[in-house]
Amino acid sequence: MADIENTDPKYVVDTLIAEDIDEYLSQHEHKTMLRFITCGSVDDGKSTLIGRLLYDSKMIFEDQLDALANDSKKVGTQGQDIDFALLVDGLAAEREQGITIDVAYRFFNTEKRKFIVADCPGHEQYTRNMVTGASSADLAVILIDARKGVLVQTRRHSYLCHLIGIKNIVLAVNKMDLVDYSQEVFDKIVADYSEFAASIGIESFTAMPISGFKGDNITSLSENTPWYKGDAYAGVPLVEHLENVEVLSSVDADKPFRMPVQWVNRPNLDFRGFSGQIATGSVKPGEKIRVLPSGKTSTVSKIVTFDGDLDEAVAGQSVTICFEDEIDCSRGSVISVADSPPQTADQFESTFVWLADEAMVPGRAYWLKLGTQMVSATVAEPKYEVNVNTMEKLAAKTLELNAIGVAELTTDKQIVFEPYAENRQLGGFILIDKMTNATVAAGMINFSLRRSQNVHWQAVDIGRRQHSALKNQVPALLWFTGLSGSGKSTIANMVEKKLHRMNRHTFLLDGDNVRHGLNKDLGFTEADRIENIRRVGEVSKLMTDAGLIVITAFISPFQADREMVRSMMPEGEFFEVFIDTPLKVAEARDVKGLYKKAREGKLKNFTGIDSPYEAPRSPEIRIDTTTMSPEEAADLIVDTLLGDA
Ligand code: ADX
Repeated sequence: MADIENTDPKYVVDTLIAEDIDEYLSQHEHKTMLRFITCGSVDDGKSTLIGRLLYDSKMIFEDQLDALANDSKKVGTQGQDIDFALLVDGLAAEREQGITIDVAYRFFNTEKRKFIVADCPGHEQYTRNMVTGASSADLAVILIDARKGVLVQTRRHSYLCHLIGIKNIVLAVNKMDLVDYSQEVFDKIVADYSEFAASIGIESFTAMPISGFKGDNITSLSENTPWYKGDAYAGVPLVEHLENVEVLSSVDADKPFRMPVQWVNRPNLDFRGFSGQIATGSVKPGEKIRVLPSGKTSTVSKIVTFDGDLDEAVAGQSVTICFEDEIDCSRGSVISVADSPPQTADQFESTFVWLADEAMVPGRAYWLKLGTQMVSATVAEPKYEVNVNTMEKLAAKTLELNAIGVAELTTDKQIVFEPYAENRQLGGFILIDKMTNATVAAGMINFSLRRSQNVHWQAVDIGRRQHSALKNQVPALLWFTGLSGSGKSTIANMVEKKLHRMNRHTFLLDGDNVRHGLNKDLGFTEADRIENIRRVGEVSKLMTDAGLIVITAFISPFQADREMVRSMMPEGEFFEVFIDTPLKVAEARDVKGLYKKAREGKLKNFTGIDSPYEAPRSPEIRIDTTTMSPEEAADLIVDTLLGDA
């Protein structure tokens, strides 16, 4: 391992694996690599075609695959025999997050090129597999059974490949031997497909009449299709096309320079470099660069690699870049050519592919990982969902497993991005559940919303510091959480009275009261509860900015939402106060008679009955109401707050 200081697991895994691949493919080093995906069901002859390609290229590295299988275990993947996904860096975070994706990657090579083919199951419910396989592909082979023509699944696969941004599409009309190599059959299928392709925005594709079984037009032109030549046809066998089509990395190399910073390399005081993989373009020492989001500029002094310094580095290479000036740059920054930098924004319209069994929760905060940037983000209710079979747009309240939809996305910080259509690396992201750490969605930024650029912070002269100085106190937020009837309001009320007597400036926000005013439009669905807490969080934040000690009493059943409020507050000013009353005790008290109603089915979504309560994992203060009186609880809370505990 070249570098021990960097403990980022992704980097460690990539380095280990990179070493294996290097060895594994070193004999073909000079060759470019084409990654492609095959789409079609078993009946279309997909396996036969892949088998044929492997067989004709006479290249199946059994022994190297064994070595890879061992290393897959070494780096702790899911305990499968072999994890080919390790070789593919599209949705790379997938494997760290442990989603099981059913995609097999196979390798072969010819005199001219190396190939990685992703083979994904074709059924509708496997959208997420296909998207994963397609995310790193240069090209897609869409297989059609010549006897059946363009099917619903042909449309679905084409749509997904187009959505993921695959520009090279091969329409492989297979089983030509079973239709007597008929030119008419082929022409008809191509005409049908052209019409459909144009309707979804596919600009061009290459159609080929083949037989995977018989080998027609795979490695050489077939005598059975003498008509397959001239201007109307590609006139080349499949393998020749695959060998010559332009790969993404060479397209990327022609774009403006961008490199997301993976980590800062600072072994000693004399050296400071920024390491990462160049996403697009190229860079040379002496060139002016700009670091985003800060916008600061400098000049490249050196490009360092493990094999020595470089005169130039291009897209796909992993390098360490040094600057002439000491400017701010850290993990998540993007180094760009100075005069045409990418944009920054915090609100976007994005397309999502939902990958998790749990449906999207609008308003919930997820981690968003875009390249090396990691921020907190919320997704609004979808504008629409796309029926992947008909391309129809449907109204939707959420997105479920395998669904594709468009929604607005808000991040808690400005991020550096480019629309996905222009740059996959700076426009593609994943969403991660904050509690389970599972990847729940893949997303593509369509564009930023203009309001995110037009609404700015207005500077004010009298701020939080001045307000609290005048009140002679440190602002704080005491966030009570617990079941309905746990005693939140009672204890919160006592706490406020005590603080008031001590001349503290306080304000109590109580669930039942706020729901009569500010939040009277909200009910008790998951989405409404999240919005309830978001608004109360924002109001509390404003009140603490005014210098107050704020006490809130809301069930606030979801850990993620309480964490969202915590993240809005300065370090040390948020106190999660867990009023821990067992359900059976709260239910026995049933002060408002609501538990009874809920048990009778007259009240839906009642917390603890048919709606969950997620207890805090590490609250600042925990009150066990079965052993402590409200009076004692209030004393403990006040003492903890004022630091006398
Ligand atoms: S929260 O879940 O969104 O935080 P909040 O604290 O504002 O809830 O409101 C809870 C109060 O609303 C309860 O104390 C109870 O009086 C009342 N209520 C009415 N319906 C429900 C319900 N389905 N679940 C929980 N509380 C309910």
